[in-house]
Amino acid sequence: MTHDLADDRAAVRAFFGERAPRWDARFPDDGPAYAAAVHEIGLRPGDVVLDAGCGTGRALPELRTAVGPAGTVLGADLTPEMLDEAARTGRGKAATLLLADVSQLPLQSSCLDAVFGAGLISHLPGPESGLRELARVVRPQGRLALFHPVGRAALAARQGRQTSPDDIRAEPRLRALLAATGWRLVSYVDEDDRYLALAERRPE
Ligand SMILES: C[S@@+](CC[C@H](N)C(=O)[O-])C[C@H]1O[C@@H](n2cnc3c(N)ncnc32)[C@H](O)[C@@H]1O
Repeated sequence: MTHDLADDRAAVRAFFGERAPRWDARFPDDGPAYAAAVHEIGLRPGDVVLDAGCGTGRALPELRTAVGPAGTVLGADLTPEMLDEAARTGRGKAATLLLADVSQLPLQSSCLDAVFGAGLISHLPGPESGLRELARVVRPQGRLALFHPVGRAALAARQGRQTSPDDIRAEPRLRALLAATGWRLVSYVDEDDRYLALAERRPE
């Protein structure tokens, strides 16, 4: 690990570790939006899916419902306190939890059918290496869902700032970033009450 990578990871852990115990209470009404987003991935019974940056595991029960008992749900997060909350709330039972950096996953290539990442991409210090690693672990034509329960404009307003075309979640930037990292953007929605970009893993 380089010094910079270690610093990046420490910063993520400090930021989210402190917030983990209050995370669910801050966003109590997001459940239906998560369920709808998971539905749009098109998972089938028996699929293998990763929740990348799963946090307190808010999407894990829906992902389990989608893949059924024959499927596999993995939840990976860099912040131990987030995974502790997932376990404490019982949501961890829906998945196998991994303390891992999504830019360096302990998974074999092409082992997943899909990845769900909620609120993840803006927090990756190196989004390009993260998306490339997610492409490595997803099979050709597998799916990636980048989700947020609030659209870009509404989120910016909540945070007292303007949206910026430099935001990597803006459609042109995201489309190019995905294309450069092994993905093809297939749909993009950025409305007040949801952000959802769906991409497909390009064949080698
Ligand atoms: C905004 S939170 C979203 C959590 C959860 N997906 C949700 O929707 O409630 C972002 C999460 O990504 C995790 N994270 C950030 N960078 C990461 C990385 N490189 N690898 C794994 N997890 C990461 C953080 O620890 C945090 O739990």
